[in-house]
Amino acid sequence: MARLVAILPDAVADQIAAGEVVERPASVVKELVENALDAGARHVRVRLEQGGKTLIEVSDDGSGMGREDAVLALDRHATSKIRSAADLVGVRTFGFRGEALPAIASVSRLTLLTSEEQGEGSELGVAGGRLDRVDPAARQRGTTVTVRGLFFNTPARRKFLRSTASETRAAHDALATLALAHPATGFSLEVDGAARLEVPAGQTLVDRLAGVWGRELAGTLVPVSYAAGAFRVDGFVQRPADAKPTGRRTQLFVNGRPFKDPFLVRAAEAGYRSSIHPGDRPSLLLNVTVAPDEVDVNVHPAKLEVRFRDRIGVERVVEEAVRDALGRLDAAAPVGQWRPMPGGQPPPAAGRPQGLAIPPEELGLSPRPAAGPEPSPGGFDAPLVQFFDSYIVYEAPEGMVIVDQHSAHERVLYETVMAQLKGGGAAAQRLLLPHTLELTDEELDALEAHAEALRGVGFEVEPFGGRTVLIHAAPAPHPRFDGIACFRETLADLARGRFGGWANRLERFAATFACRAAIKAGQRLSEPEMRRLLLRLFETELPPHDVHGRATIVQLPREELERRFGRR
Ligand SMILES: Nc1ncnc2c1ncn2[C@@H]1O[C@H](COP(=O)(O)OP(=O)(O)O)[C@@H](O)[C@H]1O
Ligand SMILES: [Mg+2]
Repeated sequence: MARLVAILPDAVADQIAAGEVVERPASVVKELVENALDAGARHVRVRLEQGGKTLIEVSDDGSGMGREDAVLALDRHATSKIRSAADLVGVRTFGFRGEALPAIASVSRLTLLTSEEQGEGSELGVAGGRLDRVDPAARQRGTTVTVRGLFFNTPARRKFLRSTASETRAAHDALATLALAHPATGFSLEVDGAARLEVPAGQTLVDRLAGVWGRELAGTLVPVSYAAGAFRVDGFVQRPADAKPTGRRTQLFVNGRPFKDPFLVRAAEAGYRSSIHPGDRPSLLLNVTVAPDEVDVNVHPAKLEVRFRDRIGVERVVEEAVRDALGRLDAAAPVGQWRPMPGGQPPPAAGRPQGLAIPPEELGLSPRPAAGPEPSPGGFDAPLVQFFDSYIVYEAPEGMVIVDQHSAHERVLYETVMAQLKGGGAAAQRLLLPHTLELTDEELDALEAHAEALRGVGFEVEPFGGRTVLIHAAPAPHPRFDGIACFRETLADLARGRFGGWANRLERFAATFACRAAIKAGQRLSEPEMRRLLLRLFETELPPHDVHGRATIVQLPREELERRFGRR
């Protein structure tokens, strides 16, 4: 099949957003795989080494190129996909800028091996943008593009590459997105010689979802199919009961084209109304169908952004579509399954019964080193009263003292954790079976950045390929402590950059962990528990505030009381 690659007129080239195409290995993977898809490939194979920093290779069984076309393809603005400005409206294929291959070739050592017919191929070599080799080469129909030494000639950009794990993840995500968009095409990803993703050609979307997101998550999804006005929304959303605060997957398409749009995800979440806990983040895959002139997909070709003409309308229909899908689920659900929560009440946190007494020695006010004697309760034998299951109140010579129990425990744990991190570490509890967790990119980065600290407080975490981690052991500061929930919340906080005010990374970690591990407000405490907590609090440096800068202790001076009662 002879085909000519035309050189874009400059005017057209100028009309096209001149965004950077090549930002990191993931963008190279995206561009090369899109080219393979455009070439009608049935199977696309991707190989990465060191997160793509040393090698990215994309092979396909698509149309391939003749030698002349192959040479032209490496030219800036050579494309077979558009001829004029008019073609830019409603572009169907993925690549249409004719600049990906030359852009990649200009910052790497690139080999293009391609053949239109069995055997009769060509191999072209480009280094730093200079075509230095065109040889005949044997290959089955299709194309292999090999990119070595990405950014070898632009050290400044090379410096911006992140860790191998992080680049691998980003490339994996880019491929996963394309795999979800093309269930009919088979994909494989090999990372440093090991298979990471393998989905066959000719799948249904449901099977493809299971192949890419995992069977477990795919099993929690329910179908969405909804049309209103000018828009249609199809796809899958997670059952409310299965939504979790972390580890969710989201994938949006507009007319089958992947894009990212946090506001649309938020609109979908709004469709859950109060059926999920405010912190839960449901997974979803949605395709919005709109007339081509309703959407501008050329806003930022590399960043997967789009612009809707009627954004409010799209958001409304997405929200309605999700609500509609969940409504049908509710109507069909057997008794005992999910029901919407009336009045927006968050469901009680599972596995954390409220109001049980905690043995004082297990309140996280862990035994001090056996050395010194217990701090004498001398001078502190005032009766203690708990108010609102949240505040501890007692009498001191100066007046009435009110202590916020969560804040106090947080402060105590903060010091304990800092000591553990600097010293010998914490006692951990081995889990009978390792607990499997799926994390987001940001959480994996946070995990990487804080691996040592997490180990220091007693978490034993093992990466398990992709975004899965296994938790083998967790700290056990008190019996109602939920190690897995604490791990998830701590990681989510770290990923979101909460506690940003702490300059020191170790301190920020300790503050985050202490906040998530501490006794919460609303927990009934016994007298001994309160006393124990206060004694430990007094042993700390006793700052007037907790790790958030909120007050831990409020005093009502005796004179103030006397003044208010007119005794002074
Ligand atoms: N894997 C491939 N199989 C067949 N042809 C390809 C492949 N990759 C690139 N090409 C050809 O090279 C041209 C330039 O590719 P590219 O620089 O990505 O620009 P664009 O995809 O925007 O046209 C494409 O238009 C196409 O004709
Ligand atoms: Mg392209």
